[in-house]
Amino acid sequence: MNRNDVYDAVWKRRSVRKYTDKPIESDKVNALRGSISSLNEASGLTMEFAEEFESFRTVLTVMFKNVRSAIVVKGRTDDPHLREKCGYYGEQMVLEATALGLGTCWVAGFNKRSGSLNTKDDETVVCVISIGYSAEEISGTSSIPDAPYRKTKSISEFLEGNTDVPDWVRAGVKSVQFAPTAMNSQKTRFQYADGLVTAHIPSGKLNMVDLGITKLHFELAAGGKFELGSPGRFTKG
Ligand SMILES: Cc1cc2nc3c(=O)[nH]c(=O)nc-3n(C[C@H](O)[C@H](O)[C@H](O)COP(=O)(O)O)c2cc1C
Repeated sequence: MNRNDVYDAVWKRRSVRKYTDKPIESDKVNALRGSISSLNEASGLTMEFAEEFESFRTVLTVMFKNVRSAIVVKGRTDDPHLREKCGYYGEQMVLEATALGLGTCWVAGFNKRSGSLNTKDDETVVCVISIGYSAEEISGTSSIPDAPYRKTKSISEFLEGNTDVPDWVRAGVKSVQFAPTAMNSQKTRFQYADGLVTAHIPSGKLNMVDLGITKLHFELAAGGKFELGSPGRFTKG
């Protein structure tokens, strides 16, 4: 999928936890599977698309309704950047699914003991992303793309008070305001000095997932690439 379609999805995406019975059409499933395999190749992750996954009832909490498909976001346990990569590449899939008209939700609170996740001995499942057609009413929409529909940290908070930044940095942070984060915690911070941006976040398993997600959102708007890690430097492309 082209980069503009993925970037447009930033403003449209919101977490969807309740789904209709409508199955995902096979051309869309094929497109998602194709993207998953190229992203796995690029990252070393082992994400999988799980269709008509009967056991989601035992995997997800009661907040979720009618989940029939999901992306299992996982990789090798010994990958030192496992969680950040899961965030980055998983969010790429979230945005592609959004562009295909599908609803998604990142899920960290799944039942990790459920045998149905089919995990190999050397793998860790970091998150699950539920995926399907939304059965939710759209409410609380604000004047997108100016502000997300739910609470967000201000651009100044993300920049730790340094608002004297070029437009491309501001655009990057605006895209981050729309990114999903665990419990909407929005803990990634961006420093700008001497033309250089770095992203950092306190250590913690879910924070690392959020770091990957928010770096992708920043990159899509600002144009460029972050190195892995916290702090991680941004190179404008
Ligand atoms: C790493 C991660 C884990 C999450 N885990 C859950 C979860 O277990 N259950 C849930 O209902 N939502 C979960 N979410 C969704 C967040 O609550 C949601 O992204 C956040 O509230 C912002 O709302 P939005 O995604 O609609 O913009 C998770 C999000 C992320 C990024």
